[in-house]
Amino acid sequence: MEWLVKEMMGAVEIGAVLACPVCGNEINGEMQCTFCNRKYSSREGVYILIDSETSGMEWKWDKRIISQKYRQEVMKGYQRLISPDIRKAHEKWWNITYPKIGNLSGNIVDLATGLGMMLEQVLKRSNNSSVIATDIDPNVLLSTKRDFEKKGMRKAFYLATDIKHMALREGVADNVTSFAGLNNITDTELVVAELYRIMKPGGKALLMASFFEEDTPSAELAEDYGFLDAYIKEKFFDLIGRTGFQLVEDREASSVIWKENEMDIFPIDGDKVYYHTIEIKK
Ligand SMILES: C[S@@+](CC[C@H](N)C(=O)[O-])C[C@H]1O[C@@H](n2cnc3c(N)ncnc32)[C@H](O)[C@@H]1O
Repeated sequence: MEWLVKEMMGAVEIGAVLACPVCGNEINGEMQCTFCNRKYSSREGVYILIDSETSGMEWKWDKRIISQKYRQEVMKGYQRLISPDIRKAHEKWWNITYPKIGNLSGNIVDLATGLGMMLEQVLKRSNNSSVIATDIDPNVLLSTKRDFEKKGMRKAFYLATDIKHMALREGVADNVTSFAGLNNITDTELVVAELYRIMKPGGKALLMASFFEEDTPSAELAEDYGFLDAYIKEKFFDLIGRTGFQLVEDREASSVIWKENEMDIFPIDGDKVYYHTIEIKK
């Protein structure tokens, strides 16, 4: 299996952690499941293990995200769109999270990596680790991979996978990170169950999560999209506990009244958003 050897990085070989997202069995060097024979693919070093029967309805980035010019426009455009109050609240949130990222080690799986704000911090601050970036959209992962490699950042694995049906074997992650990941994926119960499955016993997840109050227009919209449990604090912690996780720490870093912009579906203008940095343990 030549590709496994080529992709060896730190303690992890990518082939040793991948699993078929449908039946959970091993993937061989030809990107084929050794049990159900489903065939997967890769593109410029982004492994794509998504099955069209289980996934496909998820939100997708504009295909232009592959272009580095468009990527920069999106990133800069977003910073211009959000209000100074929201920017300040985000800064406080990150400042509370940074030292915790520095404490992570081993195999780290970043959930829903997108443009890689969290991934960048993990690569810079958790030197003693092997990092797997994940997202449902192969294009955004390829865009982030190209950008980070051009900047000379430490190597990561890039895995296009649906967090609801993760193409990773049980117990592979020492740590999991997520910035605005759980808040954007439908079926929170399935996502949290998958998170639990891929983590090692004793492993910790560091989650940056936003919450709204119940009975707000934002909560109503979250319910329509199927991720209310990720947005209501009590529901989220109840789910975490039921899944088997222990809460290590929950810090409310900041809160702000949301001012709508053309890029975010959530929250609704005028609703209060609470930014939390949460550590949970399997
Ligand atoms: C707001 S972005 C997350 C920000 C990112 N974590 C960062 O650090 O910059 C949300 C991401 O979730 C991804 N996503 C949505 N549904 C998903 C799913 N079912 N599985 C994996 N990723 C998903 C989207 O493609 C998008 O890139």
